[in-house]
Amino acid sequence: MILVQISDTHIDEPGTLVYGHFETSVALRKTVTAINAMDPAPDLVLHTGDIASHGSVPRYEAFREIMDDLSVPYALVTGNHDDRDALKNVFGNTDALPTQDPFLQYVIDGFPVRIVCCDSVIAGEPAGEMCDERCAWLDETLAQAPDSPTIVALHHPPFYGGMTGTSAKGLLRGGPAMAAILKKHDQVVRVLAGHVHRPITAPFGGTIAFAGPTTCYPFGMDMGSERVLNIVHEPPAFAVHAWLPDATPDGAGLITHVLPVGDWDAPITLLRNGENVLGH
Ligand SMILES: [Fe+2]
Ligand SMILES: [Fe+2]
Repeated sequence: MILVQISDTHIDEPGTLVYGHFETSVALRKTVTAINAMDPAPDLVLHTGDIASHGSVPRYEAFREIMDDLSVPYALVTGNHDDRDALKNVFGNTDALPTQDPFLQYVIDGFPVRIVCCDSVIAGEPAGEMCDERCAWLDETLAQAPDSPTIVALHHPPFYGGMTGTSAKGLLRGGPAMAAILKKHDQVVRVLAGHVHRPITAPFGGTIAFAGPTTCYPFGMDMGSERVLNIVHEPPAFAVHAWLPDATPDGAGLITHVLPVGDWDAPITLLRNGENVLGH
């Protein structure tokens, strides 16, 4: 099973340059093209939130029009820049968002790895939370399939990634409760988040938590004395999570790659079908 994770697409009005530099729709189109070129093709694309720069029906329709070109199905997690009602208006009860509940939480079954999508948004706040109700839903949902390897997805990373600003500490409330739930359910192979606009990995709840990169404007890694939050001109990227039968000494496991999106010189092939191509 191959799962592509995209995040923080921040779709804005057509032609808008976000922060004067970034045409987020163009960046998403390039990402869709890169995903469609993957061999083998992924089974699913999961978006870990901040679909629009500020959620609205026209922006979600613009996002859907770009994603219509994707050759594989996709699913959506809501982020702090999103608007639940507008999202439900455009995607509710479709394969991309199979719910119309107040919290946009649901399960994706049918793959070797089950995916539990959570809603960590506090409306109007940059930071997120896993409140009692949402933690109870996560606990019950994980208890339904204790033997299925499972990914838990939410927009806000449940860890502190060392950086500054509103993205630094994703979950304002509910982090310890969520960690305790995950420790009870040892089938969770990964927590996937977005929000921090760069790939960051941390231990959490007895498993591995990973915040995926953005397709538009990355934040730079800065832990210096001035506590700077920079938008940097690193290439946009997406993550590829592959469930491989022989990933670990114990057998199957989820491995994660980060793939930048851009144009570079052609690759230099070293091996093909196990044979040395360069001849030395
Ligand atoms: Fe974001
Ligand atoms: Fe966010």
